[in-house]
Amino acid sequence: MGSVIAETFADAGYQVIIVGRSAERLDAAKQQLQSRPGRSIATLPGDVGRRSECDRIATEVERQFGRLDSLVNCVGASDRGLADELDAERLRELIDQNVTTALLCCQALRGLLERSGGSVVNIGSLAGKVGARYLGGYNVAKHALTGLTQQLRLEWRERGIHVALVSPGPIRREDAGTRYRDRADGSLPASASAPGGGTKVKGLAPQRVARIVLQCARRRRTDVILPGYLRLLIVLGNAFPRLGDWLLIKFTS
Ligand SMILES: NC(=O)c1ccc[n+]([C@@H]2O[C@H](COP(=O)([O-])OP(=O)(O)OC[C@H]3O[C@@H](n4cnc5c(N)ncnc54)[C@H](OP(=O)(O)O)[C@@H]3O)[C@@H](O)[C@H]2O)c1
Repeated sequence: MGSVIAETFADAGYQVIIVGRSAERLDAAKQQLQSRPGRSIATLPGDVGRRSECDRIATEVERQFGRLDSLVNCVGASDRGLADELDAERLRELIDQNVTTALLCCQALRGLLERSGGSVVNIGSLAGKVGARYLGGYNVAKHALTGLTQQLRLEWRERGIHVALVSPGPIRREDAGTRYRDRADGSLPASASAPGGGTKVKGLAPQRVARIVLQCARRRRTDVILPGYLRLLIVLGNAFPRLGDWLLIKFTS
């Protein structure tokens, strides 16, 4: 998803910096992205789960580019399992990946974003809006990211920094359906290893998600759920929790 977002921003004229832990993977992604002429892509290897690394990245961004207009926090990982089998260590791991990385990047890059009156877009999930079955600690982690995003948006209003959340359902990818097979053991129905833990929501094209991320950065959209028709169902489910449970069971069995 990160590389499709990078491609979309680059095609819209942004100078894009991609961050990841492996310099080799970043170089491969950069080469692929630059196979289309006119795209400006830079790489900065670093582990954004560590504040010192985020500070170093911020220093490099300032030194090499002088400004930052948008930050997209896209690190994250899903999970499979029953809540009553979720252990504390796994939960911490998921929170580190899905929440702490975004928080540390925001903290380290705040100064640059404040100077440009820029924007942050956090990549959440439908699992940050509803608590579907069989997703291990993913619901907890993405709900935390949802809360963090709104808190930052409110706290940074006066600083002129916009903070948005994009919450997509399953995104189409080649390994969808097999990525979490190892985590979905015998205690779960076979469908749980499928995207979204077996949801009937159709896979989204990553390009569609990326276009929305760009709109959030440019037009300051605030909170987008994809596919859009689910917003109404989620609002209804929040207002009428029994209906919400019924809808979730319908959509995931
Ligand atoms: N895929 C879906 O169907 C789906 C649906 C809804 C929401 N989402 C959300 O969309 C986001 C992207 O998902 P994805 O499927 O594209 O994930 P992915 O393929 O696993 O990619 C995650 C990326 O983050 C980088 N990364 C991981 N930990 C890092 C760290 N500590 N520091 C720096 N970089 C790190 C990885 O690169 P390195 O390993 O090289 O560091 C990789 O490039 C996630 O937040 C996910 O929850 C995904």
